[in-house]
Amino acid sequence: MDLSPDSAFTAQANGTADLYDAAAADHEAFWAEQARSRISWATDFERTLDWDDAPFAKWFVGGSLNVAHNCVDRHVEAGNGDRVAIHFEGEGGDTRTITYADLQKEVSKAANALESLGVETGDRVAVYMPMIPETVFTMLACARIGAPHSVIFGGFSAEALHTRIADAEAKVVVTTDGQWRRGKPAPLKAAVDAAIHHGDDESPVEKVLVVKRTDTDVEWDDSRDVWWHDLVPGQPDTHEAQPMDSEHPLFILYTSGTTGKPKGIFHTTGGYLTQAAYTNAVVHDVHPETDVYWCTADVGWVTGHSYIVYGPLANGATQVLYEGTPDTPHQGRWWEIVEKYKVSILYTAPTAIRTFMKWGADIPAKFDMSSIRVLGSVGEPINPEAWLWYRKHVGGDKAPIVDTWWQTETGAIMISPLPGVTTLEPGSAQKPIPGISAEILDDDGNPFTEPEKVGYLVLTKPWPSMLRGIWGDPERYKETYWSRFGPKYYFAGDGAKYDEKGNIWLLGRVDDVMNVSGHRLSTAEIESALVSHPSVAEAAVVGAADETTGQAVCAFVILRGDAVDNGEETVQELRNHVAKEIGPIAKPRQVMIVPELPKTRSGKIMRRLLKDVAENREVGDVTTLADSSVMSLIKEGMSSGS
Ligand code: WT7
Repeated sequence: MDLSPDSAFTAQANGTADLYDAAAADHEAFWAEQARSRISWATDFERTLDWDDAPFAKWFVGGSLNVAHNCVDRHVEAGNGDRVAIHFEGEGGDTRTITYADLQKEVSKAANALESLGVETGDRVAVYMPMIPETVFTMLACARIGAPHSVIFGGFSAEALHTRIADAEAKVVVTTDGQWRRGKPAPLKAAVDAAIHHGDDESPVEKVLVVKRTDTDVEWDDSRDVWWHDLVPGQPDTHEAQPMDSEHPLFILYTSGTTGKPKGIFHTTGGYLTQAAYTNAVVHDVHPETDVYWCTADVGWVTGHSYIVYGPLANGATQVLYEGTPDTPHQGRWWEIVEKYKVSILYTAPTAIRTFMKWGADIPAKFDMSSIRVLGSVGEPINPEAWLWYRKHVGGDKAPIVDTWWQTETGAIMISPLPGVTTLEPGSAQKPIPGISAEILDDDGNPFTEPEKVGYLVLTKPWPSMLRGIWGDPERYKETYWSRFGPKYYFAGDGAKYDEKGNIWLLGRVDDVMNVSGHRLSTAEIESALVSHPSVAEAAVVGAADETTGQAVCAFVILRGDAVDNGEETVQELRNHVAKEIGPIAKPRQVMIVPELPKTRSGKIMRRLLKDVAENREVGDVTTLADSSVMSLIKEGMSSGS
C-alpha cells in the first residue's frame, strides 16, 4: 500500500515541507509569523514569548485582540457574511443554517444578554449544554466579553457540576431544559438546580439562563432563572467587541488527573487562538471557501473547543454541528450527514470507528461519501486495523488520515502527520508538527531514539496554546507537568516509542488516568465516588482493555463489615452510584466485590495485578505483595457483575 502523498493533494495542501525548516530555523519567529498572518490583532505584540518565569508562559506579549471578532466579525467585514458558518443538524432531524452574518448577530445578542445579567470581563460563566447552536453562541459571547467560560460536558452529574461551578466560582450558568438522547429527552437544568442547592454551601451562581430545547418540565426560581427566549431575541444585534490582552483567560476546562480532584486547565487568548487556527489549517487542511468540515466531538471536551468553535471559526470555515448519537434513528446517520452536506473533512475518535466496524462496512457503503478528502483521528491511539478500515470504508481508499495527538493541556494538535506532506504510517501519530518539539525519555530522564524501546513522551519547548496553569493552583501545575523530569520538560503522562522509521507511537497513559472512549477518567476520582457509598469500605479502580472503548472502568470493592452483599443488586447499586456522583461516562463496566485488595508492604494498591484479573490474564509477579495469598482470595471470593 502506497501511503505517500498524492501529488494533486500536495499541490493544494496548506501544509508544506518548508514549515518544518522555518520552525526549526527560528521557533519564535515562526510562531510570530503564524500569529500575525492568521489572526487579527487590535494591537500588535511586542515580544513573542516571555518564558522568564517558566513554566508560566506569556505569548505575544503586549498584543491585544478579541477572539469573537476573529471568529466572526472579521469574516463579515471581509465580505464573507453570506458564507455558512454552521449547518446544524438536530438529532430529530430539525436543521438550521447559520451564516457568518447570522452568527455575528446571534453572538452579539447573546453577549448583550449576558451583560444584562451582570456578566463582566473576568467573570466566569459555566456552560452545561448539548450540541446546539446556542452553545456556540454562548461560548463566543463569553469570549466577546472576556468572561472565561467553563464548559461542563452534559454527561456529567449534578455532583460533578457542583464541584466545577464552585472551583471556578461561576456567576452565571447557561443550560437547557433538557437534551435529546436517542430520541428521548433527558433533563439537564435539574442538575444545575441540584448543583446550586448543594448541602449548606453558598453557591456563587447568581443567574441561570435556560434555552428551551426538549420542552421538559423544569423547576423555576423567578429570582434566578431566565429563559433564553425571553431575554436574548429582544437584545440589540450589535455589540462592541473589546480587545483583550493576549494573556487574558479565554476558558477553563476541567479534566481528570491522578488525584480525585479534577484540574481546571486554563487557556488564554492570543496563543491559543493562533495555534487552534494554524493546526486546523495545516493538519485538517481546511480551505474555507470550498470545504465542509465536521468534527464529531462534543463541545464539552477540548476537541470541541479547539476544533468546532475556535479553530474552524477563526479560519472562516463552513462546518456541520450534529446534536445526536451515531445510531439515531439508524446506524447510517453519520454517513447520511456526510452525503447530505458533502462533508469533505471528518474528524472523529477511534472508539467511534471501532463501533462502525462492528456495525459493518455495508452501512457506509449505502451512502455517497465521495466528498471526503481528509480524515482525522483523536483521543486515543488508533489501532492499525481501525485506521485501515477508516481509510477504506470512509476515505474511499485515498483520503489521508491525520492521527492527532494532543491533550486538554496542550490546547491544540501537537503530534500529527501533515496531509500532503507526510508519508503515512497506520497507527502512528508520527512526528511533532512544525513549531512543536518532543522527545522520548527513559526512566532516568535521558532522551533516546532507539526504535521499539518504550519511554515517556515530553515536550521540550513552550508552545502558544499551552495551558497557562491549573485554575487557582499554580503549585499543582508545576508539580504535575514540570517536575517529573525537571523544569525543562513538559511531562505529558503518555508512554511512547519510536519505530524503525523514526515515527512516534503513543502507547497510552503511564499514570492513574484511564481513557474510556477517548474520555479521560481518573482512577482516584472513581475510587473516591465508590467509597462515598455507605456500603463501601475500600475501592480500587483499573482501566481494562476493551475492544470498543479502548479501556473500560473495572472496580474492585471491599464492602463494610455491616453491609450486606446482595450480589448483582449491590453491584448495580454501586455502578449507579458512580454514575450519580460523576456521570454516566464513569459508570464501571464491572464491579467486583472482593474480600481483600492486593497491597505492597507500604500499603500501595497494586493495580497491575487487578488489571491482570480484569483482563482475564494469569496474574503477574506477586512477590512484592504484603500478603501473597490475597490474589487467590480475590479470585475465589469474587462475585462479579457487569
Ligand atoms: C490524552 C489526552 C486531545 C483531545 C482529546 C483528549 C490521549 C489523545 C491521542 C492520539 C494516542 C491520544 C493521550 C493524551 N490521546 N489523542 N492521537 N493517540 N493517544 O484530550 O481528555 O485531555 O486526553 O488522550 O493519552 O494524554 P484529553
